[in-house]
Amino acid sequence: MAHPALDPIPLPRDRDHVLRPVREVPRLLREEPVRKVRFPNGIDAWLVSRYEYFCAVTSDPARFSSRKDETEPQKRQISRPPVNQPAAFNRSDGEQHRHYRRKLTKEFMVKRIAEMRPHIQRIVDEHLDDVARHSTPVDLVSTFTLPVPSLVIAELLGVPYGHRQAFQDAASTSMSLHATAADVQQSFAKLGEILGRVFDARSSDPREDLISRLLHEQRDLDREELTILCIGLLIAGHETTANFAGLAIATLLQQPDQLAKFTAHPERAGQSVEELLRCLIGIEGGGGLIRRAVEDVEIGGQLIRAGEWVAASMAAANLDPALCPHADQLDLDRAPVAHVSFGYGPHACLGQNLARAELEIMLVSLFSRFPDLRLAVPVEDLPFRDDMLVYGVRALPVTWGARNGEAPVTTG
Ligand code: HEM
Repeated sequence: MAHPALDPIPLPRDRDHVLRPVREVPRLLREEPVRKVRFPNGIDAWLVSRYEYFCAVTSDPARFSSRKDETEPQKRQISRPPVNQPAAFNRSDGEQHRHYRRKLTKEFMVKRIAEMRPHIQRIVDEHLDDVARHSTPVDLVSTFTLPVPSLVIAELLGVPYGHRQAFQDAASTSMSLHATAADVQQSFAKLGEILGRVFDARSSDPREDLISRLLHEQRDLDREELTILCIGLLIAGHETTANFAGLAIATLLQQPDQLAKFTAHPERAGQSVEELLRCLIGIEGGGGLIRRAVEDVEIGGQLIRAGEWVAASMAAANLDPALCPHADQLDLDRAPVAHVSFGYGPHACLGQNLARAELEIMLVSLFSRFPDLRLAVPVEDLPFRDDMLVYGVRALPVTWGARNGEAPVTTG
């Protein structure tokens, strides 16, 4: 008889509540921390749940490669997206990965991001002014959580914000579980054309932006490499933050005790964001960070054969009782723990300092500006998206002010 762990179960995706992690996570953590699962596209992978195993997989690129091919899990349709260009460094290993990542590291260091905070605050305030001018209910996704990180990353790179539709489209296409290779290629080509025009303009007229610095300081990069790097940053730089902000706002509005802690201690906002990141990123849509075993390797007593896919689950690792007590509960009084919402090891999120600054400023400013903010519909009626690599809310209708529909409170 086959060992039960070898028979794949469908990738667990069901939730008891839209704002709770996948139902199977605690059981997998307890009983089957290394479990073969079948992704919706028919590809099998070892789902690795425990925090310790997550770190073992993601910190060891010599044995767990980030390179992908047409048989990767996660995409609903097995496709051949344009993934393996060298400059797509999130999908490469070793020196190739380091070569490109090094060129960007200083742009996202703590000091550089700290200098950006007043600018991020101004962008946030302007958007909240705009929110306040709307009549309620207002959709916070289209007015706040999506445009703020989009504008921040566009300005950081030096891409005119008028082109936001192109990079928002490229992001949602490349993260969609339904998109075909052709869809992804088409949206990348369109964005590539726009970037080509920006490169031409900045070559002759450099400004204080990342594209100008790359063009003038990293002269070994050719246009194709530059295009791939910038597409990666534009996509990674807004979609994840926007989604997370939407989930965090919905969650705090659903848990008034936690929201009260958040607003009572703005000086602890950084710590609160860490706890939100720990609990909510768990609400990942794609089954985890995908790696491929380079050689036969054992994890938690389970042999994983060379060539097999591994899905390291952030959702599970962050909820592992070994990480912190009562890990399944959001507790904004909790001292920060070493969660893996930004990954772990050499591929850990390059933009995490930026994401943290954006989230902290967005959440603090939103709840101080609208102290009586509330959902305009029951949470169950919010349109959640679970057809993407990143789980989130498509729309977040909110209201504020008197409950009888009086004019909104505007304090700005
Ligand atoms: C809440 C927001 C964010 C979350 C949860 C997040 C999460 C992650 C995770 C889990 C990884 C690791 C992927 C892996 O190991 O395979 C990653 C990588 C990456 N992230 Fe983020 N991210 C966020 C925001 C950002 C922002 C604002 C940027 C800005 C450009 C960014 C840029 C990147 C890049 C370039 C990589 C690839 C790093 C590499 O492979 O070396 N991310 N992110």
